[in-house]
Amino acid sequence: MKINVKILRYDPEKDRKAHWEVYPVEAQAGDRVLDVLNHVKWYVDPKLTFRRSCAHGICGSDAMLINGRNRLACKTLLQDVVKPGGTITVEPIRGLRVEKDLLVDMEPFFDAYRAVMPYFVNDEAPPTTERIQSPEAAERMDHGSNCILCACCTTSCPIYWVNGSYLGPAAIVQAHRFIFDTRDRAAEARMQILNQNTGVWRCRTAYNCTEACPRDIPITQLIEEVKRAVMYTQ
Ligand code: SF4
Ligand code: F3S
Ligand code: FES
Repeated sequence: MKINVKILRYDPEKDRKAHWEVYPVEAQAGDRVLDVLNHVKWYVDPKLTFRRSCAHGICGSDAMLINGRNRLACKTLLQDVVKPGGTITVEPIRGLRVEKDLLVDMEPFFDAYRAVMPYFVNDEAPPTTERIQSPEAAERMDHGSNCILCACCTTSCPIYWVNGSYLGPAAIVQAHRFIFDTRDRAAEARMQILNQNTGVWRCRTAYNCTEACPRDIPITQLIEEVKRAVMYTQ
C-alpha cells in the first residue's frame, strides 16, 4: 500500500524552528513504523536522525510521538495507525530538548532516574546462600523490572511538560521497584527523595503515562502505592 509519512524535521545547523516534511512510501500493512523510517533514511534522506537499536521493543531507544501518541516505532504496526493512502505523523517525544529531527536529549530523563537510587542497597553481611524472597515479594517488583526506560511515560505527562524538575513516572516506577524489594534497605532514603517538591506529590493522576507504556506497566497504580508508602512513613 502507498502511505505518506509526515515527519517533524529540525536541523539545528540550518533551521530556526522545526518544520514538517512528507515522504510518500510504498509499504506493507504488517511493516512497522521503524521500517518506514529506515526506508526514508536509507533511500530518501540519509540525514534523517532518530535513535533505534534492538528493533524488538527491548532497548527502549525509539520512543516517538506517532499520530500524536507516544509509542515505540519498532512495536507499532502500520495497520494499527494508517489506512492505505493515508498519512502517519511522526514527531519527537515532548518535554525534552530536540537535538535533531526525532532525536532528543535524554540526559534530564536519566538524571531523574539516577536521582531515585535505582540500585540495590544492603550493607548487611551477605548470607551464605541467596537472599531468599517469597514469590509474592518477587511479584511486587515485577512491574518495575519490566521497564525498559523508554521515556514514553514521562514525556506524555502534562505535569512534566510544564515542569521538567518533576522526577516523572519512569523514575517513580524505578523507585517503586527498589522500595518494595524486601532485600533492600534504602527505602526510607528513596522516600525522602520522593517526598520533595520534585517527587510523587507532583503527580495529579493524569493517567497519560499508563496509557503510553509499551510494557503495559500500571504506572499510575505504582505511583499511588509509592504515595501511600511515603505518606505513612512521615
Ligand atoms: Fe517506558 Fe513503561 Fe518504563 Fe515508562 S514505565 S519508561 S513507558 S517501559
Ligand atoms: Fe503524570 Fe502519570 Fe501522574 S501522566 S500526572 S505521572 S498519573
Ligand atoms: Fe529497541 Fe525499539 S529499537 S525498543
